[in-house]
Amino acid sequence: MAPKSSPTNILKIIRKHRARSDRSSISRSSVTRVDVLGALEARDDRNGREDEMPVDSQGGTYYPLGMFGTDQTIADRFSPTERIVVYQGDCLELLRHCPDELFKLVVTSPPYNIGKEYEKRLNLDLYLSQQEKIIRECVRILSPHGSICWQVGNYVHKGSIVPLDTVLYPIFSDLGLTMRNRIIWHFEHGLHCTKRFSGRYETISWFTKSDDYTFNLDPVRVPQKYPGKKHFKGPKAGQYSSNPLGKNPGDLWIIPNVKSNHVEKTDHPCQFPVELIERLILALTNEEDWVFDPFLGTATTIIAAILHQRRGAGSEIVPKYVSLSKRRIKDALTGQLRTRPMHRPVYDPIKSGNSLTRPPWKKEADEGIPLFQDTEISGRSTAG
Ligand SMILES: C[S@@+](CC[C@H](N)C(=O)[O-])C[C@H]1O[C@@H](n2cnc3c(N)ncnc32)[C@H](O)[C@@H]1O
Repeated sequence: MAPKSSPTNILKIIRKHRARSDRSSISRSSVTRVDVLGALEARDDRNGREDEMPVDSQGGTYYPLGMFGTDQTIADRFSPTERIVVYQGDCLELLRHCPDELFKLVVTSPPYNIGKEYEKRLNLDLYLSQQEKIIRECVRILSPHGSICWQVGNYVHKGSIVPLDTVLYPIFSDLGLTMRNRIIWHFEHGLHCTKRFSGRYETISWFTKSDDYTFNLDPVRVPQKYPGKKHFKGPKAGQYSSNPLGKNPGDLWIIPNVKSNHVEKTDHPCQFPVELIERLILALTNEEDWVFDPFLGTATTIIAAILHQRRGAGSEIVPKYVSLSKRRIKDALTGQLRTRPMHRPVYDPIKSGNSLTRPPWKKEADEGIPLFQDTEISGRSTAG
């Protein structure tokens, strides 16, 4: 099935909304509706410059949007009547303008205090006290039925690691939140360490504000391992035992991180993959709910929100990432943003017949042996 965000589906949605809005005579939208159809059909507008976009009276930029059925503005400031807000500046400034208890989900990946280009390395206590101020505000704006997901890795100092989720946990629990899962996000690519095992996972700490929280399992179920399995005894003996909608994805998520070959890669050093946030948004919010990301980066959170008819707001302090965010949001709105689809199996180079999986130093010895049959790599069988 084509993903919801595929150009084909978006064209269908736009045509449906065009028919609907033709009946309801929406002002201002007719020219841009035609434009978006042209853009989608031609698919050649990927280099459109920000300064060529139409601008509204408050300085926001309008984008024609099939998904929501009307043209959209990327607003510079928060208002509950908006759908998409990208604030350029410090997250605490944006948070101060957000009302209490409006947001269903706050999801973010904060700076890890490891000296990336967008952060100043701080003493760990100072870093934690700054995080505490931001988390406190995020809890204030969170709906009583809402969730906070804080995605972090390790702080590293002189070769010693501090898993940030462990030191951040007391902040969330002291603010009265309840932890529901500590999700392990596993990926294959990253730095190769020489004095410890290379880090290949990070965590998402998921907290809720109350026991009455939104949790939709069905939209995020994954295929069953044994869909043909049946009950073998009891009153249901002989009937299929597994849920045909799929199984609970569990708390170990294997999702490729955004490195050089990833279809979503931009100039930002550490983007979320969109599919990671799509799963959280589908499970923890409903359509039309507000999602917030204080450390927006390249707007992955807002993009995942748009793809699933939610509203998104966030702040980013570095102007070049704000421009990048707006460009990506615009591409998402017009169906031109390429994202890795949810549920696509992780690339397996051996099954795919990638010739690089054959160790060159074994070439002669293996002559005559089929290339991808039960190859031994580093002493571990890769068969099956
Ligand atoms: C780990 S990155 C987030 C990347 C993001 N998840 C994405 O998918 O692109 C953290 C981002 O927070 C931004 N940032 C750092 N301090 C900030 C602050 N006080 N307010 C707003 N943004 C900030 C950085 O510039 C950086 O882009």
